[in-house]
Amino acid sequence: MSVERAALAGGYSISRLLMGGWQLAGGHGSVSPAAAHAQMQAYADAGITTFDCADIYTGVEELIGSFKRLRAVPAIQVHTKCVPDRQALATLRRTDVERMIDRSLERLGVEQLDLVQFHWWDYATPGCAAAAHWLDELRRAGKIRHVGVTNFDTPQLAALLAAGVPVATHQLQYSVLDQRPVNGMAALCAAHGVQLLCYGALAGGFLSEKYLGQPAPAEPLENRSLVKYRLIIEEFGGWGIFQNMLQVLQLIAAKHHATIGAVAIRYVLDQPQVAGVITGARNAQHVPATLAAMRINLDAADRTAIAAVQAAASGPGGDTYTLERNHSGPHAAIMRYNINAAN
Ligand SMILES: NC(=O)c1ccc[n+]([C@@H]2O[C@H](COP(=O)([O-])OP(=O)(O)OC[C@H]3O[C@@H](n4cnc5c(N)ncnc54)[C@H](OP(=O)(O)O)[C@@H]3O)[C@@H](O)[C@H]2O)c1
Repeated sequence: MSVERAALAGGYSISRLLMGGWQLAGGHGSVSPAAAHAQMQAYADAGITTFDCADIYTGVEELIGSFKRLRAVPAIQVHTKCVPDRQALATLRRTDVERMIDRSLERLGVEQLDLVQFHWWDYATPGCAAAAHWLDELRRAGKIRHVGVTNFDTPQLAALLAAGVPVATHQLQYSVLDQRPVNGMAALCAAHGVQLLCYGALAGGFLSEKYLGQPAPAEPLENRSLVKYRLIIEEFGGWGIFQNMLQVLQLIAAKHHATIGAVAIRYVLDQPQVAGVITGARNAQHVPATLAAMRINLDAADRTAIAAVQAAASGPGGDTYTLERNHSGPHAAIMRYNINAAN
């Protein structure tokens, strides 16, 4: 089964299923380099040739770099991020940004980064557009092929676009549980040709048979991803309505001879402006189920059943990533804002 591809600007093409690298970083249990390379090989061999990582995912750029050096793989595309520390934003200079980009180039062992997704932790600190322009200058200098963003809200992305930053993609959370992109962001992106790359489609693994019919897991949860999406389930309305969603997805999965995860991925792939869905992995076990998303055709009855549960949910509401920017809220409390310099 071949994996659909999406064309970004300038003849650049990605697999619409992307492998996420956060799960190979700390906070998700340790994975040996050999095991990580075997996982990457399995995803690439399956046609999932686009990998997502970040300069703040400890050790992951290096792992992808060594994978590219040591293994004979078909062409892979690597998307990284530029996430300056929150405490450094007020004094950030062009040289700091260039140093971060040079560090990613070196770790990945490439002369050009395919996509750099820029994040700015605090809109109250000026300098966001200036930093994005510095990335664009590095793009024009050849160090970066495309500039994207991650976790912006609609007014701030509109401001960057108005300032002339050529934003190719926006990486954000989008799932059957988290519909916030429809509250303005997807329309803005459609108007400006910005393509969406989506995380959270599996809610860290919660959207799977493993949790169907089960009580809410006891704390502490197994990894940081589950901690993050447990909060999203609470925003959705709690474990009870989440179970309703799992039941609906399971019925749809049975109809299509697939799994809950595959249906959850397909649902996001089908949303307007979505170029790709990033799924995290700690090994290769989920490759077949992820690939199955390619052969599912959700019909009107499937979409209506999912929408009925969504209509009864309490959230998450508002613009993309606004809840997470509320510094006194639970989502912000689990963030690590200042790990770039130490990485
Ligand atoms: N920009 C950002 O702020 C941001 C935030 C989060 C993530 N991301 C990116 O998005 C990627 C995805 O991360 P995520 O946190 O959103 O996690 P996710 O993809 O929603 O969930 C990943 C987990 O789901 C399980 N899984 C994987 N494939 C599956 C399948 N086909 N069916 C059922 N379960 C499956 C695995 O858990 P088990 O091994 O336990 O089964 C895996 O660790 C990250 O690696 C990162 O690249 C970006």
